[in-house]
Amino acid sequence: MNATTNSPDTAWRQLHEAATLPYKKAGQFAWHFARGKLGRDPVFRGLIERGLIGPRHRRVVDIGCGQGLFASLLASMSAMQRQGAWPAAWAATPAAADYTGIELMPRDVARAKASIGHLQPAPQLVCADMCSATLPPCDLVVILDVLHYVDIAAQDGVLRRVRDALQPDGRLLLRVGDASSRRGFAISQWVDRTVTRMRGHKVSPTWGRPLNAWVATLESMGFRVQSIPMSEGTPFANVLLVADLGPRA
Ligand SMILES: C[S@@+](CC[C@H](N)C(=O)[O-])C[C@H]1O[C@@H](n2cnc3c(N)ncnc32)[C@H](O)[C@@H]1O
Repeated sequence: MNATTNSPDTAWRQLHEAATLPYKKAGQFAWHFARGKLGRDPVFRGLIERGLIGPRHRRVVDIGCGQGLFASLLASMSAMQRQGAWPAAWAATPAAADYTGIELMPRDVARAKASIGHLQPAPQLVCADMCSATLPPCDLVVILDVLHYVDIAAQDGVLRRVRDALQPDGRLLLRVGDASSRRGFAISQWVDRTVTRMRGHKVSPTWGRPLNAWVATLESMGFRVQSIPMSEGTPFANVLLVADLGPRA
């Protein structure tokens, strides 16, 4: 192997290029959206730098996956590790993730299929409502900025089904807005409505809760929860909840 370990900054630039390139096939909108999202949202690099996705998180379910950017990033991460170019400062991630993305909007699923349908292992891209979609057995569930589209009872229903689909020692990475931080929460709702409208989707009401209520809900379902502020460089009040299950009896 011709190993040249990258610095984290170089590695991130290369991952950004590699993960967004496939979206050129689906047109300018898909490509620019992917580049902007991966470049400006702190969550993606934050997950890697904090070592929150480990090699054991092989079976991944991404709920509200949009055009499947996280699948493309996972595949680029695997490729960089195979090439021996993964930064020494970063913990290893899955060698090859089995990815299932669930997305309500047919247009997003079509863009995902056109862009990343060729990846290996082949991503499963499912057009379905998270409130009723079948969740396959998995090691990691990712829900980034999605649950607020459904009411509190429906959110709890999704979280219970996630808990049941996760295997022993499974992890849920859930990013939510903290409704107790009024200004940041209001700004994220406004941006969310604007982007939803730009993407040609109907704008519906959204439902939030304060951070302590999110944590209490997850703990009542059997998760151990750690919360990490995740809106660096943005005006939002976003928090990443790292919710872990223990070994099952
Ligand atoms: C703000 S976007 C986040 C996309 C992606 N998770 C990311 O971080 O790049 C929210 C996504 O959730 C999807 N969504 C909303 N309600 C949903 C539902 N009931 N079932 C599945 N997906 C849903 C939207 O269509 C949209 O693609």
